[in-house]
Order: sequence, then structure tokens, then C-alpha cells
Amino acid sequence: MDTAIVENSTKRYARAIEASKRVRWDIDKDVIRGRRFEVEQKWMPDGLGRMQGFAFATPAEKRFISQIQGRTYVNMFGMIERYIGAKMLEITRGHVLGDQTVVEALVRFTDEELKHQELFRRLEALIAPDMPKGYRFLPPANDVANAVLAKSTWAVLALTCHIELFTLDHYRQSIDRDPELSTFWKDVFKYHMMEEAQHAVLDEMEWQREDAKLTPAQRDAAVGDLIDLVGAVDGLLQMQAVADADYFTSVVPRKLDKAQAQHLKESFLRAYRWQYIVSGVQNERFLQIIGAMLTPVQMGRITAALAPIMGVS
Ligand SMILES: [Fe+2]
Ligand SMILES: [Fe+2]
Repeated sequence: MDTAIVENSTKRYARAIEASKRVRWDIDKDVIRGRRFEVEQKWMPDGLGRMQGFAFATPAEKRFISQIQGRTYVNMFGMIERYIGAKMLEITRGHVLGDQTVVEALVRFTDEELKHQELFRRLEALIAPDMPKGYRFLPPANDVANAVLAKSTWAVLALTCHIELFTLDHYRQSIDRDPELSTFWKDVFKYHMMEEAQHAVLDEMEWQREDAKLTPAQRDAAVGDLIDLVGAVDGLLQMQAVADADYFTSVVPRKLDKAQAQHLKESFLRAYRWQYIVSGVQNERFLQIIGAMLTPVQMGRITAALAPIMGVS
């Protein structure tokens, strides 16, 4: 590689290390601070929770829906961070006797994802006693991690970059002035974003490095892997949307009719697709990075696969 490019990329890794040191936070001292989640407040911001879709719900029911979505958010991230940490360890191995600045940046990245896993486990433990019984999070973290890690590195890094970028968007959507939104929850979005911002930069560089190694045929196959991964994520979201709608129905005192029950499931799915797929694939940075790697035909394959998920089929 050109020395100027190498120097430039070393500088970007060094900047990620600096930022990681500067923003580093502690689960108890900074995020939890002895707090519990306020059950009289909303946990997910209205935009992120796609609350306009739950038109039939009363304000109290909408608050409960935002809490169910919040709990699923905590569990989803606890699961996602499992595979990301494992993949980063593997990628770090490939650099281990190379540029030590890169190694340090990636080790910090993995360490932060381990901390985030712990944060989300702690949050689930805080939430569980304060919510009515019956909530279930269905996707099994290790099975999901194994299925993701079986795909090509290019596809796994593409998925990861998209996730890290959407956590930044989620933070932006959490800083509205809604007085009913839990300040504890706002902090969860904020602190997570502070470390994810560096991860997004590192993912981008590692993804581009991987992309440069591929032949056109390998890249074409990797696009297929990415499409499979997004389809698998959507399968998990469909499963959890049904579980969360059933939980809501089992807890609220009123009886929903068939049409309302169906609408509820669809609204949960629309919200989850927005949170875990659509907000990432619409991210401008993500589109720039992937757009520079793929041919129009390959981009067309991805767009066609996403159409039913984006609700434009
Ligand atoms: Fe994270
Ligand atoms: Fe991350």
C-alpha cells in the first residue's frame, strides 16, 4: 500500500484511540448511578418507537409499549454485542504483529463491546422486577452469533458498520425535548453512542481493508451473504414482534379484537424494522461507504432484497 495511505490510516486509528480514552465511561459511576428506570415515563422516544403506528393505544398503553420496546432494545444489543466482540477479536488477530496502533484501537473496541454487553445485561436485570411478568426475549445470543460469524468477513463487517452507525442515529432521535421521556434512558443512548462513534470509524476502515482483498466474484458472493444476514435479522425481528405483542395483550386489562391484535403485531414489527434495519440502511455514511464498493447491479440486488422490509414492495 502507498505510504501516504498507510500513514493516513494509522492517524485515523490513533484518533480513535484518543477519543476512546477521552470518552471512556463506567457502567455504575456514569450510566446507572444507582437509578432505576421510571415506570411512569416512556423509555423509547416516539420517533424511534414508531409510536404513530400504535394509533389504537391509549396514552398509558403507549407508555407500556415504549417500555416493552426498551426492554427488547436492551436484549437485542446484549445479543448483537456478543457477535461483534467475537468478530473483532478475530480481526485483531490478523493485525497482531502488524501496526500496533491498529491492534490497540481494535483491542479497545473489543473491550468496550464486552463492557456494553455487561451494561445491557445489568439493565435487563434492573428492568425485570419492575415490569409485569411474562416478557420473553426469544433470539438465543450464541446461536445468532454463530450464524452471523459463519458468513464472510465482508458481510459481517457491513452488518456491523450499519449497526454502529444506527446507534448514532438512535442517540440523535433520543435528544428530543419530550418531558415524558426517561432521562435514564436518554443517558443509555448517549453513553452508548459516545463509544460507538469510534467503532463506526474502525468498522469502516476494517471493512474497506477487507473489500480491497476481494476478487469481483468473492465480492459478489459477499453481497449474497449480506442479503442473507439482513434476512436473518428480519426473521428475529418478526419472532420478537409477535412475542412482544402477545406480552402486551396478556398484560393490558382490555381485550383486543382480532383486527387490533393483528395491527399490534404489525406495528411492533414496523418499529423493530425501523430500529434495527431501516435506520441503518438509510444512513448517509453507510450508503456512501457501500456505494463506493459495489456495482450498480450489486446495489440493485440489495435494494430489491430490502424492499419488503422497507415497506415499499
Ligand atoms: Fe456497543
Ligand atoms: Fe460498537
